[in-house]
Amino acid sequence: MFHLGWFLGSGFSVQTWALDPWAGNTGHDWMKGDLFVDLAASLERARFDYLLVEDTSMVEDAYGRSMETTLKYGMLAPKCDPVPLIPLLTQRTKHIGIAVTLSTSFYHPYMAARTMTTLDHLTDGRVGLNVVTGSSTRAAQQYGYDELMLHADRYGMAGEWMEAVGALWDSWEEGAVLVDRETPRYADHTKVHPVDFEGKHFRTRGPLNTIPGPQRRPVIVQAGASPAGRDLAAKYAESMLAHGTSIEGMKAFRQDMHRRMKEHGRDPATLKILFLIDPILGDSDRVAQAREEDMKAARWSDHAIEKALWGLSYTSGGEFDFSTFDLDEEVPDVWGNGETSTLRTFVEGARGKTLREAIATVDTHAGLAFVGSPDTVAAKMGEAMEEVGGDGFLLSPTVTRRNIAEIADGLAPALRKRGLIRDGYSHSTFRENLLEF
Ligand SMILES: Cc1cc2nc3c(=O)[nH]c(=O)nc-3n(C[C@H](O)[C@H](O)[C@H](O)COP(=O)(O)O)c2cc1C
Repeated sequence: MFHLGWFLGSGFSVQTWALDPWAGNTGHDWMKGDLFVDLAASLERARFDYLLVEDTSMVEDAYGRSMETTLKYGMLAPKCDPVPLIPLLTQRTKHIGIAVTLSTSFYHPYMAARTMTTLDHLTDGRVGLNVVTGSSTRAAQQYGYDELMLHADRYGMAGEWMEAVGALWDSWEEGAVLVDRETPRYADHTKVHPVDFEGKHFRTRGPLNTIPGPQRRPVIVQAGASPAGRDLAAKYAESMLAHGTSIEGMKAFRQDMHRRMKEHGRDPATLKILFLIDPILGDSDRVAQAREEDMKAARWSDHAIEKALWGLSYTSGGEFDFSTFDLDEEVPDVWGNGETSTLRTFVEGARGKTLREAIATVDTHAGLAFVGSPDTVAAKMGEAMEEVGGDGFLLSPTVTRRNIAEIADGLAPALRKRGLIRDGYSHSTFRENLLEF
């Protein structure tokens, strides 16, 4: 059996609202949250382990050094804060885990520890935390910095941030909460401790001013795949989002993560690595293949190219404006200061191709290609996971109710019929379910 996650890759935002006949009314009502509630309920019906909600906090202007393209298409903006959305999603579900994204560069550890503990209570122990370092200069400026800190410094901060939030989550000992109505005594003050955390970047006194939640600390998720990102995940993460386009590459990634975990004294079974995929489904293999052809052709359109160039500019941390590069020349070797591993995947995949060709053919998020009827794709996913050795897949389709239904009511039942995914949830918390197998 393997695990399934869904990556809501543009967060609590407008999603696809134009240029897609299945967009519905989302352009107008995305901010009400119903679409995401439907998504969470559907994924629980499908028996997914979790839904991961991305977040960023800027209106980007890296591409063309203007906000025009961002706001023309609604690229990562407009977007609401995902934290208040989480309890709405868990009100309508009973078992699925929901991971929310917070940036270690911009969220103070005290605020993060308190927010996540609050969510752990409100979700009855079903919350996770996607730890990111941020990758946009414009986002850094929202929080008062002149520039985005350098990649190595961001990960230095992230390591310290994890220590600080961990100390706050441990500031109430087991057994500190009494709720003894007779005495009366709410809590035993000898079991509640200041943390007096003094780091290079953060200070916090503690203790946390709320009581531990059902999970005590949220499930930690991490996605950065640079060496520094892998080390952070090896030390703290319980699930990792990874990009893999070959069985060999995926195996090597897992082996590398397991080696790093052992160096930190951790059991590799306590990390579930989910590989990004974007299956193309149809009523039959023939229909799915035709759909794939159409999707491939659409990638050469002016809209698709503009959006892709926008994405590359953003991924570089705003360092490069891809509107200035010649579409018919080879892709230059640029790594930037943003999502370095994502941009590296693109640049390496683009060798020998023009920028236009690379945009149309290199995927930085879709991994192994799965195309076919639900049953065909389920079989192929099973074979691939068997070869990789575990732990599961992270699906990141465009969010339309059509795509949600195809996966929840087509693919997931086909996977279940083959015994490849869970057919129920044995436990009440996200962590227990995730680590069950
Ligand atoms: C699948 C995936 C999801 C991510 N989600 C977010 C996100 O929600 N917000 C964000 O600021 N960064 C996000 N990132 C960025 C990373 O978590 C990380 O901070 C960034 O990639 C820089 O690390 P790296 O150079 O180690 O890849 C994501 C990256 C990947 C691959």
